[in-house]
Amino acid sequence: MDYTRDGATYDDEYDPVTAVHRRFVARLIDSCPQGGTVLDAACGTGPYMGMVLGAGRHVVGTDQSAGMLGRAGTKHPSARLHQVGLQELAFEKAFDAAMCIDAMEHVPPEEWPLVLANFRRALRSGGHLYLTIEEVDRRELDRAFAEETAAGLPAVRGEDVREGTGGYHYYPGREQVRRWLAEAGFTLVDEADERLDGYGYHHVLVRAPEY
Ligand SMILES: C[S@@+](CC[C@H](N)C(=O)[O-])C[C@H]1O[C@@H](n2cnc3c(N)ncnc32)[C@H](O)[C@@H]1O
Repeated sequence: MDYTRDGATYDDEYDPVTAVHRRFVARLIDSCPQGGTVLDAACGTGPYMGMVLGAGRHVVGTDQSAGMLGRAGTKHPSARLHQVGLQELAFEKAFDAAMCIDAMEHVPPEEWPLVLANFRRALRSGGHLYLTIEEVDRRELDRAFAEETAAGLPAVRGEDVREGTGGYHYYPGREQVRRWLAEAGFTLVDEADERLDGYGYHHVLVRAPEY
């Protein structure tokens, strides 16, 4: 997948929104006061922005891909959009809530703590964060690791960088994600599992500390 090249036609080919995504976004919106602002990090073409705006909250979308942001801006002219990577987010106490949906699988393990610290800094006291963690069969990841190391690549278990698998993906285990979230100061509010065709999502709603 080349998000920049395919941004204009992405919505014609993919409909990634499931009932569980919608349920968690609705809960995130509920945690945000009327007139408050939600960060949609790695927003892509903005499939959840209509829910946020329709509920009377503002939305700020960020993404590294100009193509995806262009499409989001056409659909939601009132959304404020910034072309910036998850690793470079520099907002401070700017948001009542934040979400990062179907994108953390593109973040390598060594950058997860940095990205979570960026989310935490961006949130106001007690702000909620909704993340999805994509999951695939661990045997497939073992195969990927074996092939990558055999090819001399400096692979980490959980990474899939093989040709034809949609670009860089890293699938951390749940325990690892729980540890990273706790180290970043987040506490668990709710979680859910969703099995789809050949993969799944672990949906996680957490809360930043109050200050
Ligand atoms: C599968 S799409 C999901 C987009 C949207 N959140 C959704 O649910 O439809 C993944 C998005 O993550 C963005 N992305 C991937 N890695 C990123 C990074 N390091 N920083 C910012 N955006 C990133 C891509 O450009 C793409 O728009």
